[in-house]
Amino acid sequence: MWKTVTILTAAAAVLAGVAGASAVLRAQAASTGAGVYTDAQAKRGMPLYKEQCAACHGDDLRGNDIIPGLAGQTFTSNWQGKSLGDLFDKIQMTMPALSPGSLTPEQTADLLAFMLSASKYPAGKTDLPSKAEALQPIKIDPPKN
Ligand code: HEC
Repeated sequence: MWKTVTILTAAAAVLAGVAGASAVLRAQAASTGAGVYTDAQAKRGMPLYKEQCAACHGDDLRGNDIIPGLAGQTFTSNWQGKSLGDLFDKIQMTMPALSPGSLTPEQTADLLAFMLSASKYPAGKTDLPSKAEALQPIKIDPPKN
């Protein structure tokens, strides 16, 4: 008898946990503050950034007088409220400036993850998708630093 009760209680706890986790996942889809990329993805983006972007946008992603930064206060305040899908399209179609269109969608998603980590948005448990449509609902939050 006790055993059955314990098992039922445990099963109910597991179900409640699953419901809670999917609610969190849904909330995560809403904005960059909610953990929409993974650390592993940002780590894949880092060498790509150094190789293809740093020469113009700077090792620290802060840009210079002529070239915009890709992380931090100025960048995130320019982009806040806009969609990650639009930022994805912008990179995919116009960058790197000397050979636009040369990045694969996966590389662009990895670069975006690296940029989000450099702006101190938290990592989560799921990679950013590599499709603009899937990124469209994710809004860019106000600056963290
Ligand atoms: C040869 C120099 C150069 C390289 C290399 C380069 N960019 Fe750029 N990038 C620019 C310039 C100049 C601008 C500003 C003009 C514009 O928005 O098109 C810019 C703009 C951007 C913007 C828009 C910024 C904003 O606030 O609107 C993003 C995002 C971006 N670059 C990402 C990248 C990424 C990611 C890479 C590496 C794959 C890269 N760029 C490589 C020169 C470069």
